[in-house]
Amino acid sequence: MKRRLALSLILLLLLAGCATNNKVTNTNGIDKLQADGEKVYVGFALDTLKESRWYRDKENVENKVKELGGNIKTLAANGNQDVQIEQVKLLINEGIDILIIVPSDSKTANKAVQLAHDAGVKVIAYDRLIMDAPLDYYISFDNEKVGEIQAQITLDQVSEGNIAYIGGSKADNNALFFREGAMNILQPLIDSGDINLVYDKYTENWSKEIAEKNLRGFLNNNNISIDGIIAANDTLAGAAVNVIGQNTDIPISGQDAELSAIHRILAGTQTGTVYKPIDTLANQAATLAMDIANGNTISTETTTNNGSKDVPSILLEPVRINRDNIEETIIESGHFTKEEVYQ
Ligand code: GAL
Repeated sequence: MKRRLALSLILLLLLAGCATNNKVTNTNGIDKLQADGEKVYVGFALDTLKESRWYRDKENVENKVKELGGNIKTLAANGNQDVQIEQVKLLINEGIDILIIVPSDSKTANKAVQLAHDAGVKVIAYDRLIMDAPLDYYISFDNEKVGEIQAQITLDQVSEGNIAYIGGSKADNNALFFREGAMNILQPLIDSGDINLVYDKYTENWSKEIAEKNLRGFLNNNNISIDGIIAANDTLAGAAVNVIGQNTDIPISGQDAELSAIHRILAGTQTGTVYKPIDTLANQAATLAMDIANGNTISTETTTNNGSKDVPSILLEPVRINRDNIEETIIESGHFTKEEVYQ
């Protein structure tokens, strides 16, 4: 009995010895709490999974990181900035080597950059810029161009009259870029008197319900007709259709090429949308993250000033979608299948 006890004790010590030997830390000496510590450990902090695009972002980034030999943990904050900060702390404590983040609030997310840098972890802002922070990289689309395309889609149908602009969440720096782009197209027509921007409102948390309530309230309280609508994404375009109804010829633009929007475009209740090839964005972000975590320095073609520095940036091209080019863009790229589009 004593002998067996001694043997199992020795065995235990040996195992413990092995275990401590397998413990791997990241560049800042933090234990990497993941299966295979040798692998690069990527932390992906999402703002939300509310819009369908974010599932595609999550899936593509995760698959690409794994394909490149890394491990990844993704957390989503459900639109709550405080939750996001706690999730970033958790990822850092798990020993991540690199952080990819979609900020819930472009301003207060600078706290996440500070926390990561204090732990020696570099930060890539994904799709949305983080302001006033020593951010390492920013990868997204040319979001001002997204706004220009949205305005053009509507103004190609109605070049004079009353326009409503349904903006996104003001906490999301993208919403400011989208509006800036739309104003690049609208302002000259406002100055010439052709266009009246009768409604111009940001939408808290990109919420469909809030957008509907705001627009309905405006129309109920003002005896004004709307001739065209520019909505910052397809969710908000859907809200506008719910308010003005299906049987109008009021042009409406959106963004994200959501399936419901593609169906509205084919049905004629939405005029167009902006397609952003998410898989390209995700693949490039995952590759960038792995390169940085493996110690490579990446130079970019452009930078974006975030109020604190000129952040090295990768900005991809958005694509204008209307009824006539759905086949060669949305279907041919595999964004949706023919069956999904024409169901
Ligand atoms: C923006 C993003 C859009 C949109 C929105 C709502 O930052 O660029 O594609 O969907 O967030 O989540």
